[in-house]
Amino acid sequence: MMKTGTSEPHILPRSAHPISRKDIDPDALKVLYRLHRSGFKAYLVGGAVRDLLLGKKPKDFDVATDARPGQIKKLFANCFLIGRRFRLAHIRFKGGKIIEVATFRREPHELDEPEADKNNTFGTPMEDAFRRDITINALFYDIGNFSIIDYVGGLEDIRQRRVCIVGDPSVRYTEDPVRMWRVIRYASRQNFSIEEETARAIEIHRELLATSSGSRLFEELNKDILSGFSTPFFRMMASYHMLGVILGGIGKKVEQTHGMMTALLRLLETLDAASRKGDGVSQNIAYSILFWPWVQGILREKGSLAGDRMKLLADEFMAASMPIILPKVLRTNVIHTLYILDRMMNGMRTGRMKWMLTKRAHYPDAAVLFSLLEYGHINQGQDPFLHAFRMKYPDHAGERKEKVQRKRRRRYRKSSKHQVEASGREAAR
Ligand code: CTP
Repeated sequence: MMKTGTSEPHILPRSAHPISRKDIDPDALKVLYRLHRSGFKAYLVGGAVRDLLLGKKPKDFDVATDARPGQIKKLFANCFLIGRRFRLAHIRFKGGKIIEVATFRREPHELDEPEADKNNTFGTPMEDAFRRDITINALFYDIGNFSIIDYVGGLEDIRQRRVCIVGDPSVRYTEDPVRMWRVIRYASRQNFSIEEETARAIEIHRELLATSSGSRLFEELNKDILSGFSTPFFRMMASYHMLGVILGGIGKKVEQTHGMMTALLRLLETLDAASRKGDGVSQNIAYSILFWPWVQGILREKGSLAGDRMKLLADEFMAASMPIILPKVLRTNVIHTLYILDRMMNGMRTGRMKWMLTKRAHYPDAAVLFSLLEYGHINQGQDPFLHAFRMKYPDHAGERKEKVQRKRRRRYRKSSKHQVEASGREAAR
């Protein structure tokens, strides 16, 4: 059912919902109370209300109010106004904590306003609810009477455990295709279903996502890849054929190759476990995991013919024409890391390995990846690859060879030092 902007809100009194003030960040409460005591409306909004209703710990606490940015600034000495298009107030607290306070706003309408007004289109609480993307993200908690205000049917959707777009999904996706991504993010993270029309419109409009800015798509992927929920997210993205949309030829190949998709999901489970444990998985490692099943496929298919495997990977990345834009340095790091990982895997199979590999700049990341792939976790304290290799091939000749070379070099240095000392003594005489 489509959610439109004409209804009276459904108000849930304190006695009928579980949100308690002790679950709200004390600094967010201070902000809410000061706004309220100064005569303004003060609502906790967005993800915090959703998470509290679901019994989860919110990541951050955002506030919405009818106070204008200038009025908010006057109330808080620790307030900084940010943003050029829409001015937001950041109230700063100890330890770098920020409570974001936004004035209620509405979607700017193309026809009825002069250009200048489009930047700060303030609105009513109802308009603010209807400009939001998903019903479960559009609930308000009113500090005035501790009730929940629901203009869009979000409470029912939480009860039904489903994600539903606010308004007409086709219109909302056309306005901003990233909303399709966000629907999949929240459905997969909460293990919610997607409301029928919200889902059907994704199937119709999914290609629009490729028209969004490549760097914005990258920002969105960053939020999901290290969220600890990347497995259900990628599984759902693939079921809507969205990997092919955001990752071009790479996504299509992964979606169409059963083995690659299964391998990717297995790897992502390992990544999620490490992210949730707080193992400090880097961005490079996360993206290397994402591309590894595809890279393995390329190397298996074309690697034996390629003189330079690193160049082969760089060329294949270019040929995939991904709408998402990975920063150049990240793409290069991923290619180098996966190149080394491939050499490690070959070494483990054949028992032959060039020890110079361990001196490469991307070796530490490749070793962490190796550990995740082989053991399912990051092996702290020792080099997981060398350890595994030595266990399997204790008599590997390469190691001995390197030791001999190192000794020879040392002997040479010693003798040349003696020579210098000797010639110095000669000169002194
Ligand atoms: N929002 C929106 N449309 C967007 C982005 C954000 O309507 N494209 C609104 C939603 O109400 C959302 C809130 O702004 O709840 C905050 O957005 P964001 O921080 O991206 O997400 P959260 O809901 O806070 O969820 P989380 O941070 O837990 O991912």
